Amino acid sequence: MAAAAAAAASPATAPCFPSTHCTRPALISLRFSRRVKVAASTDNPSPAFNSVTAFAPATVANLGPGFDFLGCAVADASLSLGDTVTATLDPSLPPGTVAIASITSPSRPSLATRLSRDPLRNCAGVGAIAALRALGVRSHAVSIHLTKGLPLGSGLGSSAASAAAAAKAVDALFGSRLPRDELVLAGLESEKAVSGFHADNIAPAILGGFVLIRSYDPFHLIPLSSPPALRLHFVLVTPDFEAPTSKMRAALPKQVAVQQHVRNSSQAAALVAAVLQGDAGVIGSAMSSDCIVEPTRAPLIPGMAAVKAAALEAGALGCTISGAGPTAVAVIEGEEKGDEVGRRMVEAFASVGKLKATYTVAQLDRVGARVIATSNLE
Ligand code: HSE
Repeated sequence: MAAAAAAAASPATAPCFPSTHCTRPALISLRFSRRVKVAASTDNPSPAFNSVTAFAPATVANLGPGFDFLGCAVADASLSLGDTVTATLDPSLPPGTVAIASITSPSRPSLATRLSRDPLRNCAGVGAIAALRALGVRSHAVSIHLTKGLPLGSGLGSSAASAAAAAKAVDALFGSRLPRDELVLAGLESEKAVSGFHADNIAPAILGGFVLIRSYDPFHLIPLSSPPALRLHFVLVTPDFEAPTSKMRAALPKQVAVQQHVRNSSQAAALVAAVLQGDAGVIGSAMSSDCIVEPTRAPLIPGMAAVKAAALEAGALGCTISGAGPTAVAVIEGEEKGDEVGRRMVEAFASVGKLKATYTVAQLDRVGARVIATSNLE
């Protein structure tokens, strides 16, 4: 059976995702090889809507010393910094399956053609399948429409945004039944397939704000709420350069000296305290202080050291690599300095790295994945 065979093939080695133009639906039987699993429900719930559209924001993972355990969600006012998924009941498909009906990318049309329409090889597809499985849906099938707002391999959590929006849309389609952690675990299935077993993009993409991933087994997320008065902004500078997460992870040091461990741990702890206290200055300086991961990755991104120096000279409170890069993220308080910091960072990418770059000034997104439209059952 073609669809069953497709479902049995684990997506564990799927990269971020060459197009195969496969439009077959996928049965909801992903293989879960890790101890941390999406629990399969036996509920078989009824749908609450005919169609649900959800948006999930971009994310900044690591935040310097928080490699693989800290991240935050960021968004601009027009919600262009994120991905959108519409999940629709599709009676033409076999029950219990997911198909990808369309992929668009209004700001980067060529990107849509690079993404696979095989649900097992597409982040939104994997997130939707995992959510459907966690919900226990067996009597209905779902078609997915994905609108990519984020570039691929940019360090802005593009794969997590697709998975988070898909999981959120599917959950809402069936009455928003999944607890927070189940939704994150559904998205994590996709991250596992694409870039490795880390939740520092998917957890903030779903929960919003800053999130600490305390442990995976048992799975323990700690959302870090910052005071509403904290006017933190993020200058995100993305060069015309792809840094695949797998390559950037291969560059990680194999061993870490105790002194580096102590230094990074104290900076990560300071970062957490500063987020909770709303201290933008300490957030910035702690983000700038990673002495383990950034020094091994920055040389792989042309101009990164100069970009960081330019951001700090222009008045940013801190600067580091966003996720696995190549986006550089600088933090500022308020947005007044955003354009100046962004321009100086873009200039440094051009003059030192010989890379064209663009900048966006974003805010902390405290909401995370959210439903933005629904259509009722007929
Ligand atoms: N923590 C991950 C890494 C994030 O830096 O490899 C990847 O987006």
